[in-house]
Amino acid sequence: MTVQKYTFRVQRNRRNSDGSVESRWQEFGVEMEENATVLSALEEIKGHQDGSLTFRQSCRSAICGSCAMRISGRTRLACKTHIGKVARNGVVEVAPQANQPVLKDMAIDIGPFYRHVRAITPWLQEGTEAQQQVDRSSYDQVNHVTQCIMCGCCYSDCTMAEVNPKFLGPAALAKAFRFVSDPREGKKSERLQQLSESHGFWSCTRCTMCVDVCPKHVSPMEAIVKLRTRAVQKGFNGSVAARHALAFHEDIQKDGSLNEFTLMVRSVGLVGTLQESGAALHLLKKGKIPSPFPHRVQGVEQLRTIYQALERNPINVETRAKEVVPE
Ligand code: SF4
Ligand code: SF4
Ligand code: FES
Repeated sequence: MTVQKYTFRVQRNRRNSDGSVESRWQEFGVEMEENATVLSALEEIKGHQDGSLTFRQSCRSAICGSCAMRISGRTRLACKTHIGKVARNGVVEVAPQANQPVLKDMAIDIGPFYRHVRAITPWLQEGTEAQQQVDRSSYDQVNHVTQCIMCGCCYSDCTMAEVNPKFLGPAALAKAFRFVSDPREGKKSERLQQLSESHGFWSCTRCTMCVDVCPKHVSPMEAIVKLRTRAVQKGFNGSVAARHALAFHEDIQKDGSLNEFTLMVRSVGLVGTLQESGAALHLLKKGKIPSPFPHRVQGVEQLRTIYQALERNPINVETRAKEVVPE
């Protein structure tokens, strides 16, 4: 493998005593093989060019999660990311994780991330719903989510965490799913009820960023969708988001398309719809009010067959554990 020249464009951050952060970009030239890791390049810079460059690392094996940082626009583990894969015209851009306070250069305060994890009560609780038998499907689901190394990549790139810091976030919700799906957990319903409230799983926009960036293939969004399904099955469907999802489900199953005319009333109720009457009037003026008559798509019977299969066997359908290979 030949050695190549790369430019590392690194965000330097300094936190002042009043909490404000000063940022600037600094460029470093390095000569590395294209399959060398970003972490080894940062070590090279720190060791030979600027000892003040600050970043975290420990295991160098994608296990401890401490080297997560934004590399060429996505949050990744520096020890797992090959320079050649992320360099754009020979340039690699490195910055700290987003959605968390910066302390210095790439070092961030992981307190907010862990406060969300702490908020979901991350341990098994005694209670009436605990069972002694652990079936294979539940074992697979718990096992899948426990691949998480708490690196924070998903939280850093989460579009909802960016606008709502109170959102529990993908890692905490994936961990919550780990307890909800564990037969030994005694308070599954209580958990589902709490997680259906504000800033819980209904706040996720399903942007899939957490699935794309997770270095351990945990697929937090998939866990979030399963939490929603289980909450609705338990009858925790009083929120606008839950009613909206149920209305979607009902329309697609029945006709294969949405009845947008009634969707709003079924989601936010009559009072909520009346509060939005200004917007409705605007749509009416523009001729954009949808038809009140449902449109049944061709081949809707096949769609119903899929729904029936899902309803008959929801646990097997939602398990993807066989596809997951721990790294
Ligand atoms: S899918 Fe949901 S949890 Fe995952 S990054 Fe997007 S908003 Fe966040
Ligand atoms: S779910 Fe994935 S990206 Fe998120 S903290 Fe866990 S290992 Fe990291
Ligand atoms: S140094 Fe441990 S995950 Fe990268």
